[in-house]
Amino acid sequence: MIKLGLDIGSRNTKIVLFDATNSSISHYAWQSTDISARSSALALIDSAFRINQLKAHDVSAIGVTGYGRKLMQDMGTAFSEISCHAVGCHFLFPGLRTIIDVGGQDSKLITLNEFGKVVDFAMNDKCAAGTGRFLEMTALRLGCEVSQLSALAAEAAQDLILNSTCVVFAESEIISLMASSTSAFDIAKAVHHSVVKRIQAQMAGLDWTAPVCFTGGVAQNSDLAYCLGNALGHDLLIPPEPEITGALGAAILAR
Ligand SMILES: Nc1ncnc2c1ncn2[C@@H]1O[C@H](COP(=O)(O)OP(=O)(O)OP(=O)(O)O)[C@@H](O)[C@H]1O
Ligand SMILES: [Mg+2]
Repeated sequence: MIKLGLDIGSRNTKIVLFDATNSSISHYAWQSTDISARSSALALIDSAFRINQLKAHDVSAIGVTGYGRKLMQDMGTAFSEISCHAVGCHFLFPGLRTIIDVGGQDSKLITLNEFGKVVDFAMNDKCAAGTGRFLEMTALRLGCEVSQLSALAAEAAQDLILNSTCVVFAESEIISLMASSTSAFDIAKAVHHSVVKRIQAQMAGLDWTAPVCFTGGVAQNSDLAYCLGNALGHDLLIPPEPEITGALGAAILAR
């Protein structure tokens, strides 16, 4: 019995096929969310069916989450992002008590009880400073890919502090630092510290406890994950594919 989960995020659309017979992920993929988010989702479904030689009747249920979930409600059941990340992360790390999901546009904190049920959550979708958007702006300014920031920051010679808490002002600050020949290594590190500071501030409002799972696209940045773990004083659990935990949860929840 195959269940299909979709997470239509602001930056990327993710798909997971979950084999409910042996409780395993049988396929996953993602692509950037097009202007038509629905066509991104349909393209991922088409290719998942082709690769796995599936027909529509092979899929017993479809669950959809992410900001674009309402666009696919005719195809399956819509679930909140909080529920899906909680279920997806708890499947991968039973016993975890806190989830930090940092995506392209927002950051979500979720606390769970010992049975994996959501106790509380906090969402930042107002300020780009604690999200992937800050990393994207930085990469653009430094002339590199977002995926290169981790390696750059790992070579930093000093721990610079960015004074601006707003991404718009931080961009001006980065431009000034570049003009004064500050290295890309030091700038990338400073941005990572700044993102971590925002996440930490958000966490101060929640009664959280370890084990902590770090997920979402930004969790692929290992230097940022290292800085966040240090700041929180805990090793972080990071899924092997942090992009897909929401889609995984949607697939598991689908009935
Ligand atoms: N290799 C990488 N290293 C660091 N960051 C990355 C990497 N790949 C992607 N990202 C970041 O991950 C973000 C996308 O993550 P994700 O797919 O979880 O977001 P989303 O679900 O589309 O967004 P949201 O949940 O905010 O709607 C991008 O903004 C990018 O900054
Ligand atoms: Mg997301």
